[in-house]
Amino acid sequence: MTTWDRRDFLASAAAMGATLAWARPSPAASRIAWREARDLYPEGVASGDPDPHSVILWTRRPFTGRARAELTAEIALDPDFRRVVATMRAPVLAESDWTCRVLAAGLQPATVYWYRFTDGAGHGSRIGRTLTAPLDGDARTVRFAFVSCQSVNEGAQNAYRRMIWEDARAPEDRRLGFVLHLGDFIYEVVEYPDEVPHRYDRTVFDIGRVPDARKVDNFHVPTTLDGYRMVYRAHIDDPDVQDARARWPFICIGDNHEFSWQGWQSFIKYDGKAEPAQALRVAANQAWWEYIPSRVRKASGPGLDRFAPPAVADAPVPALDGDGFGDEANNRLAVGSMTAYRTAHYGRHVDLILTDFHSYTMEDPTTRPEANAFDLPDFPFFLPQETLEILDGGRAYDGHRPPDAIAIGDKSVPNFRKDEPAYTMLGRTQKAWLKDRLTASTATWKIWTPTNGTLDMRTDPQNLPAGLTAPWPGKGYATFGGGDFSAAFTERAEIYDHVRAAGIDGFVTVSGDRHSFWAGYAAKALPPQRFDPVGVSFIVGSISAPGLAEALEHGLKGHTLRPLFVADRADGTKEATVNLLIKHGVRSALDYARTGDIDRARALTNKDVAPHLAFVDMGGHGYAVVTASADAIETEFVCIPRPVARATTPDGGPIRYRVLHRATLWSGGRPMLEQRVLEGDARLSV
Ligand SMILES: [Fe+2]
Repeated sequence: MTTWDRRDFLASAAAMGATLAWARPSPAASRIAWREARDLYPEGVASGDPDPHSVILWTRRPFTGRARAELTAEIALDPDFRRVVATMRAPVLAESDWTCRVLAAGLQPATVYWYRFTDGAGHGSRIGRTLTAPLDGDARTVRFAFVSCQSVNEGAQNAYRRMIWEDARAPEDRRLGFVLHLGDFIYEVVEYPDEVPHRYDRTVFDIGRVPDARKVDNFHVPTTLDGYRMVYRAHIDDPDVQDARARWPFICIGDNHEFSWQGWQSFIKYDGKAEPAQALRVAANQAWWEYIPSRVRKASGPGLDRFAPPAVADAPVPALDGDGFGDEANNRLAVGSMTAYRTAHYGRHVDLILTDFHSYTMEDPTTRPEANAFDLPDFPFFLPQETLEILDGGRAYDGHRPPDAIAIGDKSVPNFRKDEPAYTMLGRTQKAWLKDRLTASTATWKIWTPTNGTLDMRTDPQNLPAGLTAPWPGKGYATFGGGDFSAAFTERAEIYDHVRAAGIDGFVTVSGDRHSFWAGYAAKALPPQRFDPVGVSFIVGSISAPGLAEALEHGLKGHTLRPLFVADRADGTKEATVNLLIKHGVRSALDYARTGDIDRARALTNKDVAPHLAFVDMGGHGYAVVTASADAIETEFVCIPRPVARATTPDGGPIRYRVLHRATLWSGGRPMLEQRVLEGDARLSV
């Protein structure tokens, strides 16, 4: 680090108010009497948001009978702590639920470090491993994993065990630099096995009781900070989650469940009824900040010791401002208590642009009670694309000429969106920031992380054979009814038009949330409109939370259109024809359900239904690994069997399939994905 770098860094660390461990030039053996006592550090250790010279180290060490204690943190070049580069004292406070954050700085770039914490009596944490980022100009190939959606209540985190197993055996230059977590780090909706022993074919595991919980259907949800803290602890107490956090730095951005399943801004919604929940939003932000070491900004200012939440009231929010944000002081304070969107640079080839999809978003119009009028019992999940486009566009639809009513079949439904702003998930300020970051990035690959999927999820019920069911009431294609960025047509077009107009190449999106694996092209529109991709897009399957294919096995029993979604075989097996439905259209799905002949089914593909898709698996779980270099980006999907129980083998259990998608850098031209099935059977997904 040059003097200038060092001065610069110290200024930024001071701005964070960091408790700082500054590396000394010559490493020395530890002089701390560390004796491992894992039970005193029940959530282990973690690290987050590495840059070339620093990383945040984390642990939790609860004490009783006092409000504050001190730990010693050490970071070393070796796991035996013979070459310790920095030692420092760090406070732990009852007020922060005994969580501890330290910024270790003055580190060497692209280097593996080991760290640990010790209390005044010599009781030590487990040893963690972390890595710094390469320098901005470093041209080395970057490898990282991305994940989402870990439910300890309903599944096992075998995907992490597999990731650890493979990484430990990989050559050094093929090891992961970090894990990008795209949210649903926790599920705040907790089931108790004495009330709900099973969901689908899964066992509901006991993860404890949520203090001050509110009961919503089968779920107990937090109403206070203590509730969220308990849920974080329950997730991190999982041995596979904990081992993953101890092996790699995580770069995290939350999705919906870090706050509330159907929440947005500082609203929650149960049974279709929205409620102001500013205090709950602050509590959720605080618990996130305490348990996830990261460089997010908090409104209380610098300092890694405590969140210091603003005081807010659960006040009604009478109106939206012109950008769809709740125009009320407590809503602004609550949402503003933490700003999570940020960038992470990783060498010459990777810029991560992390965005927050739930703090600034408007209420999803398709979940509003007025939208119940669009339910089509003959066509489960389907919503005519033109209907969704009107709901999305609000008053901006069709050049600010929204219709007064929306026709669906022979019905006419009032357009409840016609005087409201176009749907936004990003909000005005974050969107401007995103565009600015995309334009400014000089990395080979500009990797944007919309936590919710960007790839259209639609099919072609207009091609159903006559007489099978009621006539399709839409004008053409059917979407699966909103709920993520693929339904934010106006905003997605705005971002993708910006990518095109600014001549940005190497544009990549990586997402989670859908509990399914998808690979394809970033395009604002599909046929019959012009299909003109500006980049490539990937969505990772969940670590463990159940997905749509699993839900469908248990739902739609006896429905005429069930074969579109699931094929029930004589031997009791079930096949996810929903993959064919989305990628190839209704004719392929129906034919495959009837014959089981995949070649025949593929021959019936509607080429216009999904030119944007290379891969879709609504039943996959696991993780994805990105390899980014000067000329190509690869994403490998590592899919494991449904994780209903913890694997009994150290490799995390078998692999269902491993599929690679590769794009070489396009310049002005059109991105092209090349697909290779490396292992296993993915025939319904390609
Ligand atoms: Fe999820």
